[in-house]
Amino acid sequence: MLNEKQKILIIGGGGREHAIGWKIKQSNRNPELYFAPGNGGTLELGINVDIKTTDIEKLLEFAQKEKIDLTLAIPDDPLALGVVDLFRSAGMRIWGPTKKASQIESSKAFSKNFMARHRLPTAKFMTFTDFEKAKYYIQKQIFPLVIKASGLALGKGVIICENLKEAEGALENMLVKKTFGEAGGEVVIEEFLTGPEISTHAFSDGEHYSLFPTSQDHKRVGEDDTGLNTGGMGTIAPVPFVSPELMQKIEETIIAPTLAGMNSDENSFEGVIYPGLMLTPDGPKILEYNARFGDPETQTYMRLLQTDLLDIIDASIDKKLDALEIKWSDKSACTIVLASLGYPENYEKGKEIFGIKDAEQNKNVVVFHAGTTMKDGILVTNGGRVLGVSAVGKDLKEALSTAYEAVSKIRFEGMQYRRDIGNKALGLKMGDF
Ligand code: AMP
Ligand code: GLY
Repeated sequence: MLNEKQKILIIGGGGREHAIGWKIKQSNRNPELYFAPGNGGTLELGINVDIKTTDIEKLLEFAQKEKIDLTLAIPDDPLALGVVDLFRSAGMRIWGPTKKASQIESSKAFSKNFMARHRLPTAKFMTFTDFEKAKYYIQKQIFPLVIKASGLALGKGVIICENLKEAEGALENMLVKKTFGEAGGEVVIEEFLTGPEISTHAFSDGEHYSLFPTSQDHKRVGEDDTGLNTGGMGTIAPVPFVSPELMQKIEETIIAPTLAGMNSDENSFEGVIYPGLMLTPDGPKILEYNARFGDPETQTYMRLLQTDLLDIIDASIDKKLDALEIKWSDKSACTIVLASLGYPENYEKGKEIFGIKDAEQNKNVVVFHAGTTMKDGILVTNGGRVLGVSAVGKDLKEALSTAYEAVSKIRFEGMQYRRDIGNKALGLKMGDF
């Protein structure tokens, strides 16, 4: 029999995990939440446990000792390390893809070969471990050319090379100098694609799936998509220019065949699959797969999801997703990320944060915490991405103006954010793609 209270451990400590906890806390199942490691915001929802997301043995030890009923494996690192396999082998209930299925994200070489084998739409590519062979191959390629470290590299392992010299430099860095460590020991060299990027997500139980509305992240640190790549500076959902016809095409040519391909490879995927797409002149193509929820996408999605997330997760673990109707609000939502000065490079921590309560006076606003912590009873910055200010509105324009109004109430020393989240999307028309 289930405990009266359901004890749930959420692995992770970013805005995504705060948003998932915020959503689960609204369940009528009386959940008791634990976050490992959590942040200053998750403290208001449950208990923070000081265990790193990569310390999967310690996480298991904790879950067994506390008699956790359900663990949610959210970030990429513990998934790639096999946290799901480890918990299952100990008889613990956990939600997420296995180590083998997570390779669809953790190894770009694996995922590109998977896409080629199942004829999924993606950029043409070759993989290499040998510098000389790779160098020879690029002589005959068209530029710009994209060179990617195969392993997990925090979004930094993708180099767009304008000419042969740049490409040789990137290959040398990855394969010879090992600037990306193990992650760059194998490289993917692929054709350069153009078009707007969108994020798609689906819940999958291995046999059935359910698509989310589309979303769009803004990955560069600067306005107008300039500057360095980050973990994500702001998201919108649904993407206003994605027509129902395009959505259907994405489902038929990407989501369904991806999950069917995993199944036929005896590597079925359970959890959230998140293909990042480019809407090219030749149709939607897969840039990469993620084996998890996106961040900050999830901060936006949790504002629109109407079904109890615990019902979805239970249905997913029990392979009964087809029996559940998953409902999304017909409103729009967005998240504006407030970051520390210097992010995504070096930044200071420990700056006092003001104005969150004020920002949340508007009932359409929820402020999710990412890099925050409590220090001597004061909320301070503790990371690059500090807060995600989310808002819901009748349309994207309203959601954005509500979110930016809330942003204006918040301050901390060195606070930086993009003022153009959603602008490009608002300028595009449905049917353009
Ligand atoms: P990835 O980690 O593979 O999603 O790549 C990170 C970012 O690099 C993407 O969000 C794109 O903006 C860009 N990118 C990756 N692959 C390509 C490609 N083949 N053509 C153009 N841009 C790309
Ligand atoms: N939003 C980018 C990511 O989660 O990878």
